[in-house]
Amino acid sequence: MTGPVIAIDGPAAAGKGTLARRLAATLGLPYLDTGLLYRAVGRRVLDAGGDPADPAGAAAAARALRPADLERTDLRGPVADAAAAAVASIPAVRAALLAFQRDFAVARGAVLDGRDIGTVIFPDATAKLFVTASLDARAGRRYAELAAKGGAVPLARVTEDMRARDAMDAARAAAPLRPAEDAVLLDTTALDPDAAFAAALALVEERLRPA
Ligand code: C5P
Repeated sequence: MTGPVIAIDGPAAAGKGTLARRLAATLGLPYLDTGLLYRAVGRRVLDAGGDPADPAGAAAAARALRPADLERTDLRGPVADAAAAAVASIPAVRAALLAFQRDFAVARGAVLDGRDIGTVIFPDATAKLFVTASLDARAGRRYAELAAKGGAVPLARVTEDMRARDAMDAARAAAPLRPAEDAVLLDTTALDPDAAFAAALALVEERLRPA
């Protein structure tokens, strides 16, 4: 590896994406939102009229994934959320996406956000953050995002979908959502985006400093 690898894991809507993107821009590193890979696989399965929970169809979709799939504009929203979580629990899907994620960081290092970056994809990452926040805070943020886009999903539904998806991500046998033993926990419940970013940058810079 020729550059640092920064692993940002945590549950849905904890603020990982915003933090990871800002860290990458500040540190001059490429950024990969690994959730998009699972979302794009789920979409491919749905396009083919398949069931995202069917291992054979989901694994074939993962092997057929192309970079252009990540540019699709229909990778967000409740249907894509559920399809992504379903394909993500299938070991053959995770295996098919592993090399892409590792290769992404080979040339210059990278900031990656997801669920298993610090535990499975890059167990030797330079810095590992596990970003979390209370379910109510996370659901409230997602609700505000959806409302800003004109979506009319009730808050109670957003909260329940998020609770169910986190439970599925944490309970699955393949690369479950959990902090790596050497990850630093960052709870953003009471932090605004700037305060969360300042805390994350300080933690990462401490790890990047030569010993
Ligand atoms: O991060 P995001 O919410 O976009 O991820 C969508 C889904 O993809 C998650 O609920 C999870 O099931 C799966 N995922 C995963 N491992 C990752 C990233 C996402 O299992 N590294």
